[in-house]
Amino acid sequence: MTDWDALRKDFPALAGAPGAPGPVYLDSACMSLAPRAVLDAIAEYYSEYPGCAGRSLHRFAEEVGHRYEGAREAFARFLGAPSPAGIVFLRNATEAINLVARGLDWKRGDRVLITDQEHNSNLVVWQRLADERGLRVEHLRLPPDGSFDLEALDDHLRTGVRLVSFFHTSNLDGRSLPVREITEHAHRRGAEVLIDGCQAAPHQRVDLGALGVDYYALSLHKMLGPSGTGLLAGPPETLGKLSPLITGGETVEWTTLTEHRLRPPPHRFEAGLQNYAGVLGAAAGLRYLERVGLEDVETHDRSVNARATRALEDEPRVHLLGPPDPAHRASIYSFTLDGVDPSDAALFLDEGYRVMVRSGMHCVHSWYRERSLPGSIRASFYLYTSSADIDTFVAGVHELLERIPGTKPPSSRSPVARSRRQSARRPTREPVSGTSARTAPSPDARAAGAPGPSAGS
Ligand SMILES: Cc1ncc(COP(=O)(O)O)c(C=O)c1O
Repeated sequence: MTDWDALRKDFPALAGAPGAPGPVYLDSACMSLAPRAVLDAIAEYYSEYPGCAGRSLHRFAEEVGHRYEGAREAFARFLGAPSPAGIVFLRNATEAINLVARGLDWKRGDRVLITDQEHNSNLVVWQRLADERGLRVEHLRLPPDGSFDLEALDDHLRTGVRLVSFFHTSNLDGRSLPVREITEHAHRRGAEVLIDGCQAAPHQRVDLGALGVDYYALSLHKMLGPSGTGLLAGPPETLGKLSPLITGGETVEWTTLTEHRLRPPPHRFEAGLQNYAGVLGAAAGLRYLERVGLEDVETHDRSVNARATRALEDEPRVHLLGPPDPAHRASIYSFTLDGVDPSDAALFLDEGYRVMVRSGMHCVHSWYRERSLPGSIRASFYLYTSSADIDTFVAGVHELLERIPGTKPPSSRSPVARSRRQSARRPTREPVSGTSARTAPSPDARAAGAPGPSAGS
Protein backbone atom coordinates (compact mmCIF):
# COMPACT_ATOMS: atom_id res chain seq x y z
CA MET A 1 0.00 0.00 0.00
CA THR A 2 1.39 3.40 -0.94
CA ASP A 3 1.68 5.92 1.84
CA TRP A 4 0.53 8.90 -0.21
CA ASP A 5 1.44 11.48 2.43
CA ALA A 6 4.95 10.06 2.91
CA LEU A 7 5.51 10.08 -0.84
CA ARG A 8 5.16 13.88 -0.88
CA LYS A 9 8.58 14.18 0.79
CA ASP A 10 10.12 12.91 -2.45
CA PHE A 11 9.02 16.09 -4.24
CA PRO A 12 11.29 19.00 -3.28
CA ALA A 13 8.94 21.62 -4.77
CA LEU A 14 6.27 20.70 -2.21
CA ALA A 15 8.48 21.60 0.74
CA GLY A 16 8.02 25.38 0.63
CA ALA A 17 10.21 27.84 2.52
CA PRO A 18 11.49 26.78 5.97
CA GLY A 19 8.80 27.36 8.60
CA ALA A 20 6.14 28.24 6.02
CA PRO A 21 3.38 25.98 4.76
CA GLY A 22 4.16 24.35 1.43
CA PRO A 23 2.42 25.19 -1.81
CA VAL A 24 -0.73 23.43 -2.98
CA TYR A 25 0.16 22.46 -6.52
CA LEU A 26 -2.95 21.72 -8.59
CA ASP A 27 -1.53 22.31 -12.06
CA SER A 28 -0.13 18.89 -12.91
CA ALA A 29 -2.03 18.75 -16.21
CA CYS A 30 0.29 21.50 -17.39
CA MET A 31 3.43 20.06 -15.89
CA SER A 32 3.92 17.55 -13.12
CA LEU A 33 6.40 18.04 -10.30
CA ALA A 34 9.60 16.02 -10.42
CA PRO A 35 10.68 13.70 -7.60
CA ARG A 36 14.21 13.93 -6.28
CA ALA A 37 15.13 10.79 -8.23
CA VAL A 38 14.64 12.77 -11.45
CA LEU A 39 16.83 15.64 -10.25
CA ASP A 40 19.47 13.10 -9.19
CA ALA A 41 19.42 11.39 -12.59
CA ILE A 42 20.00 14.74 -14.31
CA ALA A 43 22.87 15.61 -11.97
CA GLU A 44 24.33 12.12 -12.41
CA TYR A 45 24.42 12.54 -16.19
CA TYR A 46 26.31 15.83 -15.98
CA SER A 47 28.68 14.68 -13.25
CA GLU A 48 29.36 11.06 -14.24
CA TYR A 49 28.95 10.50 -18.01
CA PRO A 50 28.34 13.83 -19.76
CA GLY A 51 28.91 12.52 -23.28
CA CYS A 52 26.98 12.48 -26.55
CA ALA A 53 25.52 9.13 -27.49
CA GLY A 54 26.21 7.34 -30.74
CA ARG A 55 29.14 9.47 -31.89
CA SER A 56 32.29 9.14 -29.83
CA LEU A 57 33.74 5.84 -28.69
CA HIS A 58 34.96 6.92 -25.25
CA ARG A 59 33.48 5.75 -21.97
CA PHE A 60 31.22 8.73 -21.34
CA ALA A 61 29.66 8.32 -24.77
CA GLU A 62 29.31 4.56 -24.33
CA GLU A 63 27.65 4.96 -20.96
CA VAL A 64 25.17 7.62 -22.00
CA GLY A 65 24.36 5.72 -25.21
CA HIS A 66 23.65 2.60 -23.22
CA ARG A 67 21.40 4.45 -20.77
CA TYR A 68 19.62 6.44 -23.48
CA GLU A 69 18.68 3.27 -25.37
CA GLY A 70 17.74 1.68 -22.03
CA ALA A 71 15.31 4.56 -21.50
CA ARG A 72 13.81 3.88 -24.92
CA GLU A 73 13.28 0.23 -23.98
CA ALA A 74 11.70 1.22 -20.67
CA PHE A 75 9.19 3.55 -22.34
CA ALA A 76 8.38 0.93 -25.00
CA ARG A 77 7.63 -1.62 -22.26
CA PHE A 78 5.61 0.90 -20.28
CA LEU A 79 3.43 1.77 -23.29
CA GLY A 80 3.11 -1.78 -24.62
CA ALA A 81 4.79 -0.59 -27.84
CA PRO A 82 5.78 -3.33 -30.25
CA SER A 83 9.46 -2.37 -30.24
CA PRO A 84 11.84 0.26 -28.81
CA ALA A 85 12.47 1.30 -32.42
CA GLY A 86 8.95 2.73 -32.30
CA ILE A 87 9.80 5.25 -29.57
CA VAL A 88 11.06 8.64 -30.78
CA PHE A 89 12.28 11.06 -28.11
CA LEU A 90 11.25 14.64 -28.84
CA ARG A 91 10.84 17.95 -27.03
CA ASN A 92 7.14 17.58 -26.26
CA ALA A 93 3.83 16.25 -27.52
CA THR A 94 3.42 19.24 -29.80
CA GLU A 95 6.55 18.26 -31.69
CA ALA A 96 5.34 14.66 -31.87
CA ILE A 97 2.00 15.71 -33.41
CA ASN A 98 3.78 18.06 -35.81
CA LEU A 99 6.12 15.26 -36.85
CA VAL A 100 3.17 13.13 -37.96
CA ALA A 101 1.22 16.02 -39.46
CA ARG A 102 4.12 17.36 -41.47
CA GLY A 103 5.66 13.95 -42.16
CA LEU A 104 2.78 12.36 -44.07
CA ASP A 105 2.67 12.67 -47.87
CA TRP A 106 -0.59 14.58 -48.14
CA LYS A 107 -2.47 15.11 -51.35
CA ARG A 108 -4.72 18.13 -51.87
CA GLY A 109 -8.21 17.36 -50.60
CA ASP A 110 -7.09 14.65 -48.10
CA ARG A 111 -9.32 14.78 -45.03
CA VAL A 112 -8.28 14.94 -41.38
CA LEU A 113 -10.83 14.50 -38.60
CA ILE A 114 -10.32 16.14 -35.20
CA THR A 115 -12.76 16.78 -32.35
CA ASP A 116 -14.04 20.25 -31.44
CA GLN A 117 -12.11 20.05 -28.17
CA GLU A 118 -8.49 19.62 -29.20
CA HIS A 119 -5.54 21.36 -27.62
CA ASN A 120 -3.97 23.90 -29.97
CA SER A 121 -1.15 21.38 -30.42
CA ASN A 122 -3.60 19.19 -32.31
CA LEU A 123 -5.40 21.99 -34.11
CA VAL A 124 -3.11 24.71 -35.37
CA VAL A 125 -0.87 22.43 -37.40
CA TRP A 126 -3.92 21.11 -39.26
CA GLN A 127 -5.15 24.62 -39.98
CA ARG A 128 -1.75 25.50 -41.37
CA LEU A 129 -1.60 22.37 -43.49
CA ALA A 130 -5.06 23.22 -44.84
CA ASP A 131 -3.55 26.48 -46.10
CA GLU A 132 -0.22 25.07 -47.18
CA ARG A 133 -1.17 21.73 -48.71
CA GLY A 134 -4.92 21.86 -49.26
CA LEU A 135 -5.97 19.46 -46.45
CA ARG A 136 -9.61 19.43 -45.46
CA VAL A 137 -10.06 19.53 -41.70
CA GLU A 138 -13.34 18.18 -40.34
CA HIS A 139 -14.62 18.49 -36.78
CA LEU A 140 -16.44 15.90 -34.73
CA ARG A 141 -18.57 17.67 -32.14
CA LEU A 142 -18.47 16.04 -28.71
CA PRO A 143 -21.58 15.94 -26.50
CA PRO A 144 -21.21 17.92 -23.23
CA ASP A 145 -22.04 14.92 -21.03
CA GLY A 146 -18.78 13.14 -21.86
CA SER A 147 -20.32 10.44 -24.06
CA PHE A 148 -18.96 9.51 -27.47
CA ASP A 149 -21.09 8.90 -30.56
CA LEU A 150 -19.51 6.19 -32.71
CA GLU A 151 -22.19 6.66 -35.35
CA ALA A 152 -21.28 10.31 -35.74
CA LEU A 153 -17.69 9.16 -36.17
CA ASP A 154 -18.78 6.70 -38.85
CA ASP A 155 -20.65 9.46 -40.69
CA HIS A 156 -17.35 11.29 -41.08
CA LEU A 157 -15.35 8.17 -41.84
CA ARG A 158 -17.72 7.23 -44.66
CA THR A 159 -16.65 10.34 -46.56
CA GLY A 160 -13.07 9.08 -46.81
CA VAL A 161 -11.07 10.48 -43.89
CA ARG A 162 -7.34 9.83 -44.19
CA LEU A 163 -6.34 10.50 -40.57
CA VAL A 164 -8.28 10.68 -37.30
CA SER A 165 -6.39 12.82 -34.78
CA PHE A 166 -8.04 12.92 -31.34
CA PHE A 167 -7.06 13.45 -27.72
CA HIS A 168 -7.17 10.42 -25.44
CA THR A 169 -8.04 12.40 -22.29
CA SER A 170 -9.07 16.05 -22.54
CA ASN A 171 -7.01 18.70 -20.76
CA LEU A 172 -10.14 20.87 -20.74
CA ASP A 173 -12.57 18.67 -18.81
CA GLY A 174 -10.85 15.32 -18.17
CA ARG A 175 -13.12 13.18 -20.35
CA SER A 176 -11.51 10.21 -22.09
CA LEU A 177 -12.40 8.89 -25.52
CA PRO A 178 -12.87 5.19 -26.37
CA VAL A 179 -9.63 4.99 -28.31
CA ARG A 180 -9.74 1.27 -29.12
CA GLU A 181 -13.23 1.46 -30.64
CA ILE A 182 -12.37 4.67 -32.48
CA THR A 183 -9.29 3.00 -33.93
CA GLU A 184 -11.22 -0.09 -35.00
CA HIS A 185 -13.83 2.04 -36.76
CA ALA A 186 -11.18 4.22 -38.40
CA HIS A 187 -9.09 1.28 -39.59
CA ARG A 188 -12.15 -0.46 -40.99
CA ARG A 189 -12.61 2.59 -43.21
CA GLY A 190 -8.94 2.84 -44.12
CA ALA A 191 -8.09 5.86 -41.93
CA GLU A 192 -4.98 6.03 -39.75
CA VAL A 193 -5.19 7.17 -36.11
CA LEU A 194 -3.04 9.65 -34.21
CA ILE A 195 -3.78 10.00 -30.51
CA ASP A 196 -2.70 12.87 -28.27
CA GLY A 197 -2.05 10.95 -25.05
CA CYS A 198 -0.74 13.87 -22.97
CA GLN A 199 -3.38 13.65 -20.25
CA ALA A 200 -3.90 9.89 -20.40
CA ALA A 201 -0.48 8.22 -20.26
CA PRO A 202 0.55 9.76 -16.89
CA HIS A 203 -2.67 8.61 -15.22
CA GLN A 204 -3.86 5.34 -16.70
CA ARG A 205 -2.36 2.19 -18.18
CA VAL A 206 -1.91 2.70 -21.93
CA ASP A 207 -1.35 -0.47 -23.93
CA LEU A 208 -0.55 0.56 -27.48
CA GLY A 209 -0.69 -3.05 -28.68
CA ALA A 210 -4.28 -3.34 -27.47
CA LEU A 211 -5.32 0.14 -28.63
CA GLY A 212 -3.92 -0.51 -32.10
CA VAL A 213 -3.29 3.18 -32.88
CA ASP A 214 -0.80 4.20 -35.54
CA TYR A 215 0.74 7.12 -33.67
CA TYR A 216 0.63 8.10 -30.00
CA ALA A 217 2.06 11.43 -28.77
CA LEU A 218 2.79 12.34 -25.16
CA SER A 219 4.77 14.68 -22.97
CA LEU A 220 7.10 13.27 -20.35
CA HIS A 221 7.02 16.51 -18.34
CA LYS A 222 3.46 15.60 -17.42
CA MET A 223 4.57 12.27 -15.99
CA LEU A 224 7.29 13.30 -13.54
CA GLY A 225 9.96 14.03 -16.18
CA PRO A 226 11.97 17.22 -16.75
CA SER A 227 10.50 20.08 -18.79
CA GLY A 228 10.83 19.89 -22.54
CA THR A 229 10.66 16.12 -22.91
CA GLY A 230 8.14 14.09 -24.90
CA LEU A 231 7.84 11.23 -27.31
CA LEU A 232 6.06 9.82 -30.32
CA ALA A 233 5.28 6.09 -30.30
CA GLY A 234 4.11 3.87 -33.12
CA PRO A 235 4.97 0.70 -35.01
CA PRO A 236 8.41 1.30 -36.59
CA GLU A 237 7.12 0.42 -40.07
CA THR A 238 4.37 3.05 -39.71
CA LEU A 239 6.82 5.67 -38.44
CA GLY A 240 9.08 4.76 -41.35
CA LYS A 241 6.54 6.32 -43.76
CA LEU A 242 7.00 9.76 -42.21
CA SER A 243 9.45 12.33 -43.51
CA PRO A 244 11.55 13.76 -40.69
CA LEU A 245 10.72 17.26 -39.47
CA ILE A 246 14.38 18.17 -39.37
CA THR A 247 17.46 16.32 -40.55
CA GLY A 248 21.18 16.42 -39.88
CA GLY A 249 23.64 14.61 -37.66
CA GLU A 250 22.55 11.20 -36.34
CA THR A 251 19.64 10.92 -38.81
CA VAL A 252 21.63 9.41 -41.68
CA GLU A 253 23.56 6.22 -42.43
CA TRP A 254 25.87 8.04 -44.85
CA THR A 255 26.14 11.16 -46.91
CA THR A 256 28.01 12.20 -50.04
CA LEU A 257 28.18 15.76 -51.29
CA THR A 258 24.98 15.18 -53.21
CA GLU A 259 23.12 12.37 -51.44
CA HIS A 260 22.32 10.73 -48.12
CA ARG A 261 20.52 7.71 -46.78
CA LEU A 262 18.25 8.12 -43.76
CA ARG A 263 18.58 5.73 -40.84
CA PRO A 264 15.53 3.67 -39.91
CA PRO A 265 13.24 4.90 -37.11
CA PRO A 266 13.67 6.13 -34.46
CA HIS A 267 17.07 7.68 -35.23
CA ARG A 268 16.06 9.41 -38.44
CA PHE A 269 13.76 11.61 -36.32
CA GLU A 270 16.25 12.52 -33.59
CA ALA A 271 18.43 15.07 -35.34
CA GLY A 272 21.44 16.64 -33.66
CA LEU A 273 22.64 16.26 -30.10
CA GLN A 274 19.76 15.07 -27.96
CA ASN A 275 18.44 16.05 -24.55
CA TYR A 276 20.22 13.16 -22.80
CA ALA A 277 19.82 14.67 -19.34
CA GLY A 278 16.11 15.17 -19.98
CA VAL A 279 15.49 11.67 -21.28
CA LEU A 280 17.48 10.04 -18.47
CA GLY A 281 15.58 12.20 -15.98
CA ALA A 282 12.30 11.13 -17.59
CA ALA A 283 13.36 7.49 -17.33
CA ALA A 284 13.99 8.00 -13.61
CA GLY A 285 10.50 9.51 -13.37
CA LEU A 286 9.10 6.46 -15.11
CA ARG A 287 10.85 4.12 -12.67
CA TYR A 288 9.33 6.12 -9.81
CA LEU A 289 5.87 5.92 -11.36
CA GLU A 290 6.20 2.19 -11.91
CA ARG A 291 7.35 1.64 -8.35
CA VAL A 292 4.18 3.32 -7.09
CA GLY A 293 2.11 1.54 -9.75
CA LEU A 294 -0.04 3.23 -12.35
CA GLU A 295 -3.19 1.43 -11.22
CA ASP A 296 -2.73 2.89 -7.72
CA VAL A 297 -2.02 6.32 -9.17
CA GLU A 298 -5.27 6.17 -11.13
CA THR A 299 -7.21 5.20 -8.00
CA HIS A 300 -5.56 8.00 -6.04
CA ASP A 301 -6.31 10.60 -8.74
CA ARG A 302 -9.94 9.57 -8.71
CA SER A 303 -10.18 9.69 -4.96
CA VAL A 304 -8.86 13.26 -4.68
CA ASN A 305 -10.99 14.30 -7.64
CA ALA A 306 -14.05 12.78 -5.94
CA ARG A 307 -13.22 14.71 -2.75
CA ALA A 308 -13.16 18.02 -4.65
CA THR A 309 -16.29 17.13 -6.61
CA ARG A 310 -18.27 16.17 -3.50
CA ALA A 311 -17.18 19.27 -1.59
CA LEU A 312 -18.36 21.67 -4.29
CA GLU A 313 -21.27 19.82 -5.88
CA ASP A 314 -23.97 21.59 -3.83
CA GLU A 315 -22.60 25.03 -4.55
CA PRO A 316 -24.98 26.48 -7.19
CA ARG A 317 -22.47 29.01 -8.48
CA VAL A 318 -19.88 26.36 -9.31
CA HIS A 319 -20.33 24.91 -12.81
CA LEU A 320 -18.32 21.82 -13.51
CA LEU A 321 -17.15 21.10 -17.06
CA GLY A 322 -17.28 17.57 -18.42
CA PRO A 323 -18.74 14.38 -17.00
CA PRO A 324 -20.25 14.80 -13.52
CA ASP A 325 -18.76 11.51 -12.27
CA PRO A 326 -15.17 12.13 -11.10
CA ALA A 327 -14.30 8.58 -12.14
CA HIS A 328 -14.75 9.78 -15.73
CA ARG A 329 -12.66 12.90 -15.33
CA ALA A 330 -9.35 11.28 -14.43
CA SER A 331 -7.23 13.92 -12.77
CA ILE A 332 -9.08 17.06 -13.81
CA TYR A 333 -11.60 19.30 -12.07
CA SER A 334 -12.43 22.17 -14.40
CA PHE A 335 -15.13 24.69 -13.55
CA THR A 336 -16.51 28.20 -13.87
CA LEU A 337 -17.74 30.39 -11.02
CA ASP A 338 -20.71 32.69 -11.50
CA GLY A 339 -19.60 36.29 -11.26
CA VAL A 340 -15.88 35.55 -11.01
CA ASP A 341 -13.35 35.90 -13.78
CA PRO A 342 -11.23 32.69 -13.94
CA SER A 343 -7.95 34.63 -13.80
CA ASP A 344 -9.09 36.52 -10.71
CA ALA A 345 -10.04 33.26 -9.05
CA ALA A 346 -6.60 31.83 -9.81
CA LEU A 347 -4.85 34.90 -8.38
CA PHE A 348 -7.03 34.85 -5.29
CA LEU A 349 -6.36 31.18 -4.63
CA ASP A 350 -2.63 31.58 -5.10
CA GLU A 351 -2.25 34.71 -3.03
CA GLY A 352 -4.59 33.75 -0.24
CA TYR A 353 -4.28 30.00 -0.06
CA ARG A 354 -1.03 29.09 -1.87
CA VAL A 355 -3.21 27.08 -4.26
CA MET A 356 -1.88 26.95 -7.80
CA VAL A 357 -4.56 26.25 -10.36
CA ARG A 358 -4.77 26.99 -14.06
CA SER A 359 -7.11 29.64 -15.46
CA GLY A 360 -8.00 30.68 -18.97
CA MET A 361 -8.68 28.70 -22.08
CA HIS A 362 -6.11 25.95 -21.49
CA CYS A 363 -4.95 26.12 -25.12
CA VAL A 364 -8.42 25.10 -26.31
CA HIS A 365 -9.46 28.62 -27.30
CA SER A 366 -11.61 27.25 -30.13
CA TRP A 367 -13.94 25.49 -27.65
CA TYR A 368 -14.39 28.48 -25.32
CA ARG A 369 -14.77 30.97 -28.14
CA GLU A 370 -17.52 28.93 -29.75
CA ARG A 371 -19.38 29.19 -26.45
CA SER A 372 -18.41 32.83 -25.72
CA LEU A 373 -16.86 31.76 -22.42
CA PRO A 374 -13.89 33.66 -20.98
CA GLY A 375 -12.28 30.42 -19.84
CA SER A 376 -12.44 28.19 -16.81
CA ILE A 377 -10.51 27.39 -13.67
CA ARG A 378 -8.79 24.02 -13.74
CA ALA A 379 -7.47 22.09 -10.77
CA SER A 380 -5.50 19.03 -11.82
CA PHE A 381 -4.17 16.31 -9.57
CA TYR A 382 -1.45 13.70 -9.40
CA LEU A 383 0.04 11.16 -7.08
CA TYR A 384 1.39 13.81 -4.68
CA THR A 385 -1.98 15.60 -4.31
CA SER A 386 -3.23 15.17 -0.74
CA SER A 387 -6.68 15.38 0.83
CA ALA A 388 -5.41 18.44 2.69
CA ASP A 389 -4.58 20.06 -0.66
CA ILE A 390 -8.15 19.52 -1.80
CA ASP A 391 -9.55 20.90 1.45
CA THR A 392 -7.44 24.05 1.14
CA PHE A 393 -8.56 24.49 -2.47
CA VAL A 394 -12.22 24.05 -1.49
CA ALA A 395 -11.87 26.51 1.40
CA GLY A 396 -10.40 29.05 -1.01
CA VAL A 397 -13.26 28.63 -3.49
CA HIS A 398 -15.80 29.00 -0.68
CA GLU A 399 -14.21 32.17 0.59
CA LEU A 400 -14.10 33.60 -2.89
CA LEU A 401 -17.80 32.92 -3.34
CA GLU A 402 -18.64 34.48 0.01
CA ARG A 403 -16.82 37.65 -0.95
CA ILE A 404 -18.39 38.02 -4.37
CA PRO A 405 -22.16 38.53 -4.34
CA GLY A 406 -23.79 36.06 -6.74
CA THR A 407 -25.17 37.64 -9.87
CA LYS A 408 -24.89 36.87 -13.51
CA PRO A 409 -21.28 36.91 -14.76
CA PRO A 410 -20.19 40.54 -15.21
CA SER A 411 -18.65 41.68 -18.44
CA SER A 412 -14.89 41.78 -17.95
CA ARG A 413 -14.85 45.45 -18.94
CA SER A 414 -17.54 46.71 -16.57
CA PRO A 415 -16.58 48.91 -13.58
CA VAL A 416 -18.51 46.47 -11.36
CA ALA A 417 -16.31 43.66 -12.57
CA ARG A 418 -13.25 45.76 -11.93
CA SER A 419 -14.24 46.58 -8.37
CA ARG A 420 -15.03 42.92 -7.74
CA ARG A 421 -11.64 42.01 -9.00
CA GLN A 422 -10.12 44.41 -6.50
CA SER A 423 -11.94 42.76 -3.62
CA ALA A 424 -11.23 39.28 -5.00
CA ARG A 425 -7.55 40.04 -4.69
CA ARG A 426 -7.84 40.66 -0.97
CA PRO A 427 -8.32 37.32 0.74
CA THR A 428 -8.89 37.23 4.51
CA ARG A 429 -5.84 35.07 5.10
CA GLU A 430 -2.47 36.67 5.12
CA PRO A 431 -0.95 36.31 1.67
CA VAL A 432 2.07 34.04 1.53
CA SER A 433 5.11 36.19 2.07
CA GLY A 434 6.56 37.50 -1.13
CA THR A 435 3.45 37.07 -3.27
CA SER A 436 1.41 40.05 -2.18
CA ALA A 437 3.27 42.50 -4.36
CA ARG A 438 2.75 40.47 -7.47
CA THR A 439 1.27 42.47 -10.29
CA ALA A 440 -0.16 40.05 -12.81
CA PRO A 441 -2.01 42.13 -15.38
CA SER A 442 -5.78 42.00 -15.13
CA PRO A 443 -7.77 40.59 -18.03
CA ASP A 444 -8.71 44.21 -18.83
CA ALA A 445 -5.10 45.19 -19.05
CA ARG A 446 -4.38 42.20 -21.23
CA ALA A 447 -7.29 43.07 -23.50
CA ALA A 448 -5.74 46.52 -23.79
CA GLY A 449 -2.52 44.97 -25.03
CA ALA A 450 -0.45 44.63 -21.88
CA PRO A 451 1.73 41.51 -21.84
CA GLY A 452 0.27 38.83 -19.63
CA PRO A 453 0.28 35.11 -19.11
CA SER A 454 -1.01 33.39 -22.24
CA ALA A 455 -4.17 31.39 -21.92
CA GLY A 456 -1.91 28.53 -22.79
CA SER A 457 -1.60 24.82 -22.40
C1 LIG B 1 -4.18 17.37 -24.31
C2 LIG B 1 -2.87 18.09 -24.53
N1 LIG B 1 -2.29 18.02 -25.73
C3 LIG B 1 -1.12 18.63 -25.98
C4 LIG B 1 -0.48 19.35 -25.01
C5 LIG B 1 0.82 20.00 -25.32
O1 LIG B 1 1.83 19.29 -24.70
P1 LIG B 1 3.35 19.74 -24.81
O2 LIG B 1 3.47 20.99 -24.04
O3 LIG B 1 4.11 18.60 -24.28
O4 LIG B 1 3.63 19.94 -26.25
C6 LIG B 1 -1.05 19.46 -23.75
C7 LIG B 1 -0.41 20.29 -22.71
O5 LIG B 1 -1.02 20.75 -21.78
C8 LIG B 1 -2.26 18.80 -23.49
O6 LIG B 1 -2.84 18.86 -22.29
